[in-house]
Amino acid sequence: MSIILKAENLTKTFTNPGKCEILKGISLTVHAGETIAIMGPSGVGKSTLLHILGTLDTPTCGTLEISGKNALGDIAATLRNEHIGFIFQNYNLLDEYSVFDNVLMPTKIARVSGKEEVAKKLLEKVGLSDHMNHLAKQLSGGEKQRAAIARALCNNPDLILADEPTGNLDDANSDRIHELLISSAKTLNKGLIVVTHNHELAKQCDVIYTLHDGHLEKS
Ligand SMILES: Nc1ncnc2c1ncn2[C@@H]1O[C@H](COP(=O)(O)OP(=O)(O)OP(=O)(O)O)[C@@H](O)[C@H]1O
Ligand SMILES: [Mg+2]
Repeated sequence: MSIILKAENLTKTFTNPGKCEILKGISLTVHAGETIAIMGPSGVGKSTLLHILGTLDTPTCGTLEISGKNALGDIAATLRNEHIGFIFQNYNLLDEYSVFDNVLMPTKIARVSGKEEVAKKLLEKVGLSDHMNHLAKQLSGGEKQRAAIARALCNNPDLILADEPTGNLDDANSDRIHELLISSAKTLNKGLIVVTHNHELAKQCDVIYTLHDGHLEKS
């Protein structure tokens, strides 16, 4: 199985306000088709770790390779655009754009055309077909979350990084999203790292880690 992401000895220290070492040497390998859950209490550093793995933040020390290339160098943005679909904890949709345009945005950034039908299909899968022409700012919290999930999948990424993707959803929608994320990984051979407090979702993953005192511990 091919390796999509390989992180070694990642550390992260925040210095403002006060010095705080949040990550103390994280090593993690993700293969194609592999699903990984990361759990742990609020404030332990899960989002910080996911942002670093997604090249949205830089580690204090350590190495990160995505698809065999150094992801901490100049090509970080290119690797991110080509290989990663990121579902943010706070969605990060563009408020003044339509839901449909938000979902297509990663393909536009990566200069990939002809993904309109894929975007429509994904909006159907997350239950938002009837909201695709709404502006993002007109959606409810759970609808925003589902739009953000469709957006993360639209450019067919090799690696999906999901930060509490069903934190704001009712049971039926959570089940639907869990199924979409896990089946995307398994049938389309994508890697999935999902930060979650949801034990049902974690149990469906191949590996469950708990982030504790700056280290990942296998459950
Ligand atoms: N830019 C920053 N500067 C200083 N401290 C930060 C910064 N970003 C995060 N932190 C701190 O790092 C800690 C971990 O934050 P993080 O968002 O990674 O936690 P989390 O595990 O995702 O929590 P939650 O489950 O609530 O989302 C928090 O105490 C936070 O205040
Ligand atoms: Mg978080």
